[in-house]
Amino acid sequence: MAELIDGKKVSQELKDDVRTEVEGLKDKGIEPVLAVILVGQDPASTVYVNNKKKACEYTGIRSLSYELPEETTEEELLELIDKLNEDDNCDGILVQLPLPKHINEDKIIKRISPDKDVDGFHPESVGRLSLGERGFKSCTPAGVIELLKRSGTQIDGKHAVVVGRSNIVGKPMAMLLLRENATVTVCHSHTANLKELTRLADILIVAIGKPKFIDASYVKEGATVIDVGIHRLEGKKLCGDVDFESVSKVAGKITPVPGGVGPMTIAELMNNCMEAAEMHANK
Ligand code: GUN
Repeated sequence: MAELIDGKKVSQELKDDVRTEVEGLKDKGIEPVLAVILVGQDPASTVYVNNKKKACEYTGIRSLSYELPEETTEEELLELIDKLNEDDNCDGILVQLPLPKHINEDKIIKRISPDKDVDGFHPESVGRLSLGERGFKSCTPAGVIELLKRSGTQIDGKHAVVVGRSNIVGKPMAMLLLRENATVTVCHSHTANLKELTRLADILIVAIGKPKFIDASYVKEGATVIDVGIHRLEGKKLCGDVDFESVSKVAGKITPVPGGVGPMTIAELMNNCMEAAEMHANK
């Protein structure tokens, strides 16, 4: 039976580290501030945003909440971002996605100053990550790296296979693994012989958005399996992209859903906010 990688525990450790660092900043008169923007009332987004605000409270980061109506125009949202970009009292800007259909997400992401891009979605942040330069890391992939490190999984020299190539997870995940000296293979919906490739993985990271898609037949004995997916099944139970029951019998280590990658994303966001405040204070 695989060893469980406990995302709740690791994220708590990371949040506690951030909290200590924020206390240190406050002693120097620096208070990190995050602007959290939610447009509309999507139930899942509302839960995520509330969890982010709670994590701010825990770590000592001040959150400014902007809950805007569904009818908000793209122009109005851009104006708010411009105002927050200029505001010296705001360190980070988070626009919860997805946005209503009449707003162009790409345009919104590009308008956020790269200095305040705590989600790490701006092309400049993505470019810096790819070049191995300092910059904000996309929170979910950064959380996966932290989970691997804090659970004692060696990345250097190992073969990591990423299933999924989204801009938010798959692509930045591959870049961060490369930075850690893994040999990286990225698979996606057009990959031929997916199973042959996933069975080569020492570290298998799954972010495809299909419930329980990866079963034990895709996994090498003893591999570390990280499940980024989250789905609500009928009957309300949560599951990931990995069939936990069968894969946990062959994997060496595995993340559960819930309680695996999910909590890490918010902890990494807090870490980015703290770093943003530190950077602005030193400018
Ligand atoms: N929607 C789903 N995940 C995320 C995230 O990490 N950041 C933002 N801003 N929106 C999301």
